Amino acid sequence: MTFTGHSASGGAHDVATDSLVLHVLAASLWVGGLVAVLGTAAARGPDREAALATAVPRFSRLALVCWLALAVTGMVNTLVRIPLGALPGSEYGLLVLVKAGALLALGGLGVLHRRRTVGAAARGEPRALLRLGGVEVLVMLATIGVAVALGRTAPPDTGTGPPSRLASVIGYDLAGPPTFLRLVFDWRFDLVFGTAAIVLAVVYLLGVLRLRRRGDDWRVGRTVAWLLGCAVLLVATSSGLGRYGPAMFSVHMGQHMLLGMLAPILLVLGAPVTLALRALPAAGRAGPPGPREWVLAFVHAPFVRWLTHPLVALALFVGSYYALYFSALFPAALPEHWAHKLMNLHFLLVGGLFFWLVVGIDPAPRRCRRPPGWAWSSPRCRSTRSSAWR
Ligand code: HEM
Repeated sequence: MTFTGHSASGGAHDVATDSLVLHVLAASLWVGGLVAVLGTAAARGPDREAALATAVPRFSRLALVCWLALAVTGMVNTLVRIPLGALPGSEYGLLVLVKAGALLALGGLGVLHRRRTVGAAARGEPRALLRLGGVEVLVMLATIGVAVALGRTAPPDTGTGPPSRLASVIGYDLAGPPTFLRLVFDWRFDLVFGTAAIVLAVVYLLGVLRLRRRGDDWRVGRTVAWLLGCAVLLVATSSGLGRYGPAMFSVHMGQHMLLGMLAPILLVLGAPVTLALRALPAAGRAGPPGPREWVLAFVHAPFVRWLTHPLVALALFVGSYYALYFSALFPAALPEHWAHKLMNLHFLLVGGLFFWLVVGIDPAPRRCRRPPGWAWSSPRCRSTRSSAWR
């Protein structure tokens, strides 16, 4: 749905599609999450109180993030098509204004929840949450109805004319052949990977800050490596490289090397799993599993154990090149915006997996034995690792 609507065609369809993907994801988590919380509140059963005490505060935090994401991505998606001034003068614009009004009203309901219902529900009294939540779900569903109408309403003609052939293929025009200056300065922010790079850097720094406040040390080298990894991810997807990559194979391969090799090496040297396990609070025996337990469960999951088998990681890392560039996959992927996103994600994850085993600091379910005398295999290194998991 997000790759076929208005957003998928015409000028700036890269920004439109990325914003719509994030928009619909935020709407799904928010609306679906609220319905699930209300279902838990309405359910009868011995665990309801404990479930609400965990779910309601967590959902409340998620709801705020979704609200902000919907507002930003909704505006980006709108401004790709029509300038703000044209909103009141068109059917499409009026529908957008209705949605903006609905989002403000939903924000108001959210504030009311925080003041009146969240505390009570977490104490096992969900009546107020059910009443206010019911109204909220109705407003949300009505907003989605307006959104569907929006998806079927032709945006007004803003006189910009049809996009050029290049813009209809990659979403934008290029100023000319890629010069050094254009690759360095001609940025086009990638809403998905650019945002991910910034969020990854901020969350990591918050983790380090929490350790520091507790008086625990965290090696500066790891922080520098992680932040450099995030910077490489940002530059590879949002600088002139990100702008010229979809149009030129040579630049695309440059992106591939940065996303598949340099960024993963730097990111795994940041030891993100060790930081998460040291910074996140443990749920304790009685408490419901939280983010720390989810990270542990993920790292110990059977499919991660399988993926971290050196032969599997090697086959994925090396095999991907041949599978992608020596088959019909790459030509088929070229015209598809979503396929470019998927390729970039694949390069990053497969590179991360491979270099986690080869140079990673975080303990992996399996570890390649290093030749004797290799720097990392010093006794000190080994003990550090094991302490990180406790
Ligand atoms: C400031 C508030 C908002 C703005 C400016 C906004 C704007 C937009 C725009 C421009 C689209 C693309 C429509 C098209 O394809 O032409 C869209 C799609 C959508 N929006 Fe929003 N939106 C907002 C709030 C919300 C809220 C609060 C929800 C749900 C609770 C929501 C749910 C959706 C959904 C589900 C779609 C996809 C509809 C479809 O393609 O069928 N939006 N929105």
